[in-house]
Amino acid sequence: PAPPQRNALRKRRRWQRVLAARRGKRRQERQRRRARGPGGPGPPSLRRGRVPAALATERLLRARAAGPRLCVDLGVGGGMSEKESGRLASQIRRLYGANRRAARPFWLCLTGFAAGTPIYEQCFRMNDGFERYLMDTTPESYLDLFPLEAIVYLTPDSENVLQDIDPSKVYVLGGLVDESIHKQLTLQKAREQRLQTARLPIREYMVRAPNSRNYHSETLAINQVFDVLCTFYETRSWPAALRAGVSSGKGYVLPDTADQVQTPRSTTAAQGNALFHGAELHRQEAPA
Ligand SMILES: C[S@@+](CC[C@H](N)C(=O)[O-])C[C@H]1O[C@@H](n2cnc3c(N)ncnc32)[C@H](O)[C@@H]1O
Repeated sequence: PAPPQRNALRKRRRWQRVLAARRGKRRQERQRRRARGPGGPGPPSLRRGRVPAALATERLLRARAAGPRLCVDLGVGGGMSEKESGRLASQIRRLYGANRRAARPFWLCLTGFAAGTPIYEQCFRMNDGFERYLMDTTPESYLDLFPLEAIVYLTPDSENVLQDIDPSKVYVLGGLVDESIHKQLTLQKAREQRLQTARLPIREYMVRAPNSRNYHSETLAINQVFDVLCTFYETRSWPAALRAGVSSGKGYVLPDTADQVQTPRSTTAAQGNALFHGAELHRQEAPA
């Protein structure tokens, strides 16, 4: 085994690399924001300024009636530490904020959201005004709420590539943070439940960027996946969507020409609200 000083030095260097990468990421994000200008047409997560509350509410209620819907499955991360639950709660806050700013939002539902669990406590503790978020929360599973054939579990390990967003479908994200190194956890769960699965088309539209760590990961945080989905739903461009959600730290970049040719596709007919048949659904209504 290496002597303790060498271990400490190695740890310190690793930590310095992490800090430098974080600083670089923040700088890049600031530059992207500046380039887009305030309230500009950029992806929802990068848009600045507030969307007027009445407009945000109107759009969200339209999504509640017509879809698409997105569930965060909080019943999957049983063994999460307090720190991980805190990170997940802040990812939920970012995801919700991006959805509120979106021109074409999703209707959100937190499933498996049970009182007394660490993630329940952290959402209320860390997210200001959480009780007024305009979305559904329930301790039930998405299986109790939606028909099986409507559910698409998004998982980085799926063999199917997400082609389009269908407002009649319910997309599910695993409520896990990246420290939970549970390879294929959501894929296994979705297979056991006989659900359709899909992954984002990262390797179809992006290329591996050489980096000193030779690190390339297609596993994103839930708010990043949501930025991709939401931007795609608005722009119908996968390159634009992937640019919005896949940070350079993932080791993937768009080839220069990839976002030149994208034809918008038409959306499918909006669906009614008949999908819900859950008993324990808690609808968080808009403030008057
Ligand atoms: C941090 S990831 C957790 C990865 C975990 N190993 C798993 O088995 O899902 C959080 C969630 O974001 C979604 N996700 C992350 N990257 C994705 C990708 N490339 N394609 C589809 N979904 C993705 C999945 O729903 C995933 O459960």
